[in-house]
Amino acid sequence: MRVDIISIVPKLLESPFAHSIMKRAEDKGHLEVHVHDLRPFGLGKHNQTDDYQYGGGAGMVMMCEPLSKAIESLLAERSYDEVIYVTPDGETLNQGIANHLSLKGNLLILCGHYKGIDQRIRDKYITRELSIGDYVLSGGELAAAVIVDAIGRLIPGVLNDETSALTDSFQDNILAPPVYTRPEDFDGMKVPDVLLSGHTAKVEEWRNDEAIKRTKERRPDLFDRI
Ligand code: 6GU
Repeated sequence: MRVDIISIVPKLLESPFAHSIMKRAEDKGHLEVHVHDLRPFGLGKHNQTDDYQYGGGAGMVMMCEPLSKAIESLLAERSYDEVIYVTPDGETLNQGIANHLSLKGNLLILCGHYKGIDQRIRDKYITRELSIGDYVLSGGELAAAVIVDAIGRLIPGVLNDETSALTDSFQDNILAPPVYTRPEDFDGMKVPDVLLSGHTAKVEEWRNDEAIKRTKERRPDLFDRI
């Protein structure tokens, strides 16, 4: 998968993909992330990218021309399966959307700032608008990093048996059960006996029961989505 990201703060996106599973995904050739600075596409000698909004009111709006030039420069190179705008008023990201997008070849992600981008760019180019939750971030970059991480780890070949996504929380709308590792006794707190029993079927049953209990307690809303 290739992901292109357009941003006016490209430095914010340097580190998230340089470590751990995202780095391995890039090293193994499953994922390529290219971050493009919007600034050179800005207007005039100050490379302006935002302006006051028509109708008045506080907050700047990102202008059409720089965004259009940046998007067109990428569209001239390849076609994209989705052109995604990350915005608090988009559809809230969930595991189903991440699964769906992980099967795509080329994604283009546009990060907004200030009061957002001119509506005409949304109307002309954007195929999907995503939010990462009901709160506001100062820009779309961190949201874009979250989205690419959620998608990237699901690309076939990125995870192995040890890191498998099949047992993740949300993969079937059930939270993951509690997990334990050494030592067996930590300050008098013991690992549940069943996990030491070597009885695979019983372990499986315990994990399933705990997962359901946890989901009922913490996220009863998830059951309604099955
Ligand atoms: Cl995608 N962008 C911004 N700026 N804030 C957010 C968001 C996105 N998702 C939740 N909050």
